[in-house]
Order: sequence, then structure tokens, then C-alpha cells
Amino acid sequence: MIAVEIIKTVKEMQKHSDRSRLSGKTIVLVPTMGFFHEGHLSLMRKGRKIGDDLVVSIFVNPAQFAPGEDFESYPRAFERDIGLAAKEGADVIFVPDEKELYPDGFQTYINLEELPKHLCGISRPVFFRGVATVVSKLFNIVKPDIAIFGQKDYQQVVVIRRMVKDMNFDIEIVDVPTFREPDGLAMSSRNSYLTDKERDYARSLFKSLKTAQTLLKDRTNDASKIIGAASRIIESCPETVIDYISIFDPETLVDMKTIDRPAQMALAVKIGKTRLIDNMRLRS
Ligand code: PAF
Repeated sequence: MIAVEIIKTVKEMQKHSDRSRLSGKTIVLVPTMGFFHEGHLSLMRKGRKIGDDLVVSIFVNPAQFAPGEDFESYPRAFERDIGLAAKEGADVIFVPDEKELYPDGFQTYINLEELPKHLCGISRPVFFRGVATVVSKLFNIVKPDIAIFGQKDYQQVVVIRRMVKDMNFDIEIVDVPTFREPDGLAMSSRNSYLTDKERDYARSLFKSLKTAQTLLKDRTNDASKIIGAASRIIESCPETVIDYISIFDPETLVDMKTIDRPAQMALAVKIGKTRLIDNMRLRS
């Protein structure tokens, strides 16, 4: 039996972290919403390598879901998650309930001015406010030296890095490459919503990113042409609706017309009822 401590309250978590820090340990936080897949486990493996005290938080954060989104149906598998995190060597699993993080009277949120005006922030207007708020709370509760996030949520990582800088959190942010299925589909808890047919169509996301990379290598540097080719790949699959496909500056997230320097490409596509995202660095 692998031992992992389960902590449910803010006070207990802060006490644990204070003890850990006093004894000179490096605390690494992997914040998650649970329902682990290999992508989450790769973040934990990285954390295990670079820290002494690996804390994995599991909290499906209501503040980052708008009414009508999938907060209620978001997949949850708590017992299974604990076993998986323990196997990866987590020291602590922090699982607060909603009242613990958002007690009655809660009214303080973190808003970034510009970054959420792009990409996912357009169709999910409360998302980054919710993410920035809960992540800053986790930072104050877990007091990590290092926090680890997946590159699959590219905009989230950019937002968190900015927030860390702006709010003077003394925390190193480490990002870990997207973990993919053998056919290229980025791993996501939401992949579990897909029917067999939709799962097949979902391959078009990675295919369109790879095509973009090939076009750029073949000297097409007009972003609108590349986006057009990517859109056609996705639209050739039934039941897909493109939310956005963008090629943009990796730091400001502002759209680029001509790819004359490093660029990031990202897309969000609805397949049936499931919204999937993916991204890739474009290199010429
Ligand atoms: O990426 C996620 O799972 C969530 O957005 C996060 C960072 C755990 C905040 O709720």
C-alpha cells in the first residue's frame, strides 16, 4: 500500500506546507480538476523529479465554468485518482470542498486585463477569472516553490505566468509538453465525452496543426492561408464547429498576419457537445 496524505482543509494544508518549508523541502504543486489521464500523470512525474514534497490538488472549480457549461457533468473519479497519484509518488492530495475555497461572502477575484480578451477567453468570458482566482488561492494555501501546468492549456499557462509576475508570487512556473494519444489527439478529461465517431473526428485537430506546420516549412507564411487550410481539414468532419483557429504572438496572444518570427497556433473546436482545444509552436 502506497502512503499518501489526504488533506481537505485550508488550515491543515497551510500547516503541512509550513512544516515542509521549515524542514527545507522544495514543495511542488500540480493543480488539477481530477479525472486523471496520462497528461496529468506526466505533470506529477515531472513534479516528483524536481521537488521533495509533491502536492496534487483536485478541485473542480465552479468559478471557471459559466452557466450552461459542463460543471455538473465534468467527469469525477476521486478514488481512482487517489490511487493513480499515490502510484506517481504524490506526498499529499489536497481535496478541498467548494465551501472551503469559496466560503459564504466570498467576493475577491483576480482579473487580467488583456490576455483573456483572446482565444478561449472570447467564448468563455469567466474562465480565466476563475482560473486565476483559484490558482492564486492554491498558491497561498499550498505555498509551493514550483507549480506545474500542461502546455495543452497554452493560454492558461500564459495567464498564470503573467499573474505570477504581476502579483509577485515567488513561485517558479514549469510547463510540460502535451501528452498525446498515439494518433495525436491531445489527452483531456473531456475526451471521455466523445462517442466513437466523434473520437474519430477529433483527430482532425492535431492533423490541422501538423498541416499548418508543413505549410509553414513549405514557405507559406500568410497566417490566413494556413488557418484556411486548417479549417478545411476540421470542417471536412461532420459534427464539428470551429470556435477559433488563431496564429498569434506566443506572449501577448495578439494575432499575427505574417509568420515572420516564432508563432503559436491554437484552436478550439466543438465536436458534438464536446469542446476540445489544442495548440502547437510553429517553426519555420
Ligand atoms: O487546468 C486545469 O485543470 C484547471 O484549469 C486548473 C489549473 C486546475 C484550475 O482549476
